[in-house]
Amino acid sequence: MNQLSIRHLTGIRGLTRNDLDLIFQTAKGFKEVINRPIKKVPSLRDITIANLFFENSTRTRLSFELAEKRLSADVVNFSAGSSSVKKGETLVDTVNNILAMKVDLVVIRHPHPGAPDFLARKLDTVVVNAGDGTHEHPTQALLDAFSLLERLGDLEGKNVAIVGDIRHSRVAISNILCLKLMGANVRVCGPKTLIPKHIQTLGVEVSHDLDETLLWCDVANMLRIQLERQERGSVPYFPSLREYAMQYGLNNERMNRIDRPITIMHPGPINRGVEITSDVADSAHSIILDQVENGVAIRMAVLYLLTAKG
Ligand code: CP
Repeated sequence: MNQLSIRHLTGIRGLTRNDLDLIFQTAKGFKEVINRPIKKVPSLRDITIANLFFENSTRTRLSFELAEKRLSADVVNFSAGSSSVKKGETLVDTVNNILAMKVDLVVIRHPHPGAPDFLARKLDTVVVNAGDGTHEHPTQALLDAFSLLERLGDLEGKNVAIVGDIRHSRVAISNILCLKLMGANVRVCGPKTLIPKHIQTLGVEVSHDLDETLLWCDVANMLRIQLERQERGSVPYFPSLREYAMQYGLNNERMNRIDRPITIMHPGPINRGVEITSDVADSAHSIILDQVENGVAIRMAVLYLLTAKG
């Protein structure tokens, strides 16, 4: 099959294994393109894409914009902070006004879970989710799996630990769904308060012991503590960042206790010294910058395949 089974990419949920293989195979070709002296191809000439960011972003936003430009699309960028959303305009009105300017595809990041699905139902245009609240971040999971395939060859039977703030993490949910489709064994690890109650229904193991988890895993994906989502009245999810780092932070001392190399990932942005120390984040075990590089190729593949479908 050389076509995706979906019209919109609102989550990993809904993708098939064939979809994943097609996206990875297409991204591989685009990765070659973006490493050539001439990094641009005309694939999306005459296609207009709007990047609608209702929440902050560095990597995802730049990566989508670069992917669109490498494919020769016309690009318009929208930030909620400097828009008429501040004057009370609704999401649908905002997006409909942008679409009236003849936009073919929208990439949306929004703080509310389900906002991309809502737009996909309401609008006659292709929608790509760039992260919606605590729900999903599908292109992050795709670039993570692609980076692991490059490093490990195959994910079937590999043990992948996702460590930290699972409760607030759209990256964790999308990664779990994607890794399970690829045949990996997935374990989430973190303090009880940061692990959602029914997470096992996604087919993952749960641990609260990082040192034991590091002995089990081939890959440790260290998630950011989402400081902006830690409010729950007067009771914090964990006593202090210092205590969190002692229990769940990845540092060289912990790495030295493992008898074999493991691959270290982080979706960014990193709280250095909290979930991971600089010596580990910048070590040869880390594929953090490969993840960022692969983000452009993966997003090129997604945009190309969705627009090719029409
Ligand atoms: N990984 C990720 O989504 O980073 P940004 O929030 O900077 O886009």
